[in-house]
Amino acid sequence: MSEAKVPVSSQAAPTQRERKPRVQPLRIAIFGFGTVGSSVARILVESKPAGLELTHVFNRGVERKRVDWAPESVVWSEDAEAVLASDVDVIVELAGGLDPAGEWVRRALEAGKSVITANKKLIAFHGVELERLAAAKGGHLKYGAAVAGGIPVIPAIEQGLAGDRIQRIEGILNGTCNFILSKMEEGAEYATVLDQAQQRGYAEADPTEDVGGFDARSKLAILMRLALRVAVDPEEIVPQPITTISAVDFSYARDLSCTIRQVARAEKSGGEVSATVGPMLVDLRSPLAWSRGTENMVILSGHYGGDVVFSGHGAGGQPTAVAVVSDLLALAHGSQRVEIPSTPGRVGGEFEVPHYIRFLVDDRPGIVAAITGALAKEEINIRAIVQKPGYPQHALPFVVTVEPCKSSALKRALASIHTMDCMREEPLDLQMLE
Ligand SMILES: NC(=O)c1ccc[n+]([C@@H]2O[C@H](COP(=O)([O-])OP(=O)(O)OC[C@H]3O[C@@H](n4cnc5c(N)ncnc54)[C@H](OP(=O)(O)O)[C@@H]3O)[C@@H](O)[C@H]2O)c1
Repeated sequence: MSEAKVPVSSQAAPTQRERKPRVQPLRIAIFGFGTVGSSVARILVESKPAGLELTHVFNRGVERKRVDWAPESVVWSEDAEAVLASDVDVIVELAGGLDPAGEWVRRALEAGKSVITANKKLIAFHGVELERLAAAKGGHLKYGAAVAGGIPVIPAIEQGLAGDRIQRIEGILNGTCNFILSKMEEGAEYATVLDQAQQRGYAEADPTEDVGGFDARSKLAILMRLALRVAVDPEEIVPQPITTISAVDFSYARDLSCTIRQVARAEKSGGEVSATVGPMLVDLRSPLAWSRGTENMVILSGHYGGDVVFSGHGAGGQPTAVAVVSDLLALAHGSQRVEIPSTPGRVGGEFEVPHYIRFLVDDRPGIVAAITGALAKEEINIRAIVQKPGYPQHALPFVVTVEPCKSSALKRALASIHTMDCMREEPLDLQMLE
């Protein structure tokens, strides 16, 4: 790949940089001209960032994708092979999914080209292998847009925080879930907000990847590799969906001075790695509670530097495109990232935090005694029992909060409680972040 440099003026006395030979701009092919791909093209065409030239757009059925604002020189193609075999320097993969996107990325790297991608799934599952391939073939792989869209968390870890030892990650990494939960906090029902999110293009027709926690899990796995320096199989992180949260939980959360957010957290402590994704109670004073709508937030806790908080637009064509173009500029200007070696690891640790447990029961005498007995058997201490008035006896929600305990012990207690006749549904167990 040729190294691109900004064209220089010959009028001033030549600086060291100006004395370098002037070379051609990076030739860029966008693979996938959808929300992000078209926004990247817009920025390249409108802002004309130095050292970058859009030369190819690849998409299936490409004729319907053509736009009149792109230069005539751009080649529009539906032949991936031809574009991969062309003289482009960089493939910008914005089609998404594991395949065929993964195949295009491998082929490009094999050919010594560089790749920029926003594809969190591909990087979470195959990032280590692809980075090795890039290094072996002399190309670069950059994916600053893969986590938290337009918020430069990955470049910050690779550059500004490289001198610290990051021990904990906490984040709101999925804008769709944050939109749904922050609307539910205002009183809306899950189904209504999901519908709204789909109409506004925040949620897919099949929202499982987002609401099931799989999208946030991929992003957490990427952050764990870069920040905690431990490469885990994303499937070891078992996500909890947000679909079980209802209006009553927000009402109880408020009584506990909390709200509910989908949080992704990971920690490396004493050689153990813990990681989890799911809806959690967050204190109203926590920055995580301030994040609303489709915003994302990431808090990185360093051994030396303490907490650093990032927030902003975690998704959307333009914010994500900014991250992609910034990666392209870093490439064109030869920015070297700090090498951050990671080691393979397992998610074996458990967070010891307080929990919020909401039961829905057909009320009768002795229920509380049976629940406290099952918790006591696992040596779990109750912090509070809260029951709001105004609910029918046959479907009565009430909440028990417990002192910090291991999730596995609580799971055993709840499995036994769930078998009680009076339980109308499986108890809802949420971690509480303090
Ligand atoms: N949107 C965001 O806010 C956001 C934020 C961060 C990261 N990302 C990531 O960015 C990537 C792109 O997301 P997006 O929202 O831009 O998706 P999108 O709007 O669905 O665009 C994907 C584009 O790729 C094309 N494509 C998909 N599969 C293809 C195939 N097999 N062959 C040829 N073309 C194919 C699609 O063509 P059709 O029109 O024919 O389907 C579409 O034009 C994904 O990895 C996503 O996770 C997105």
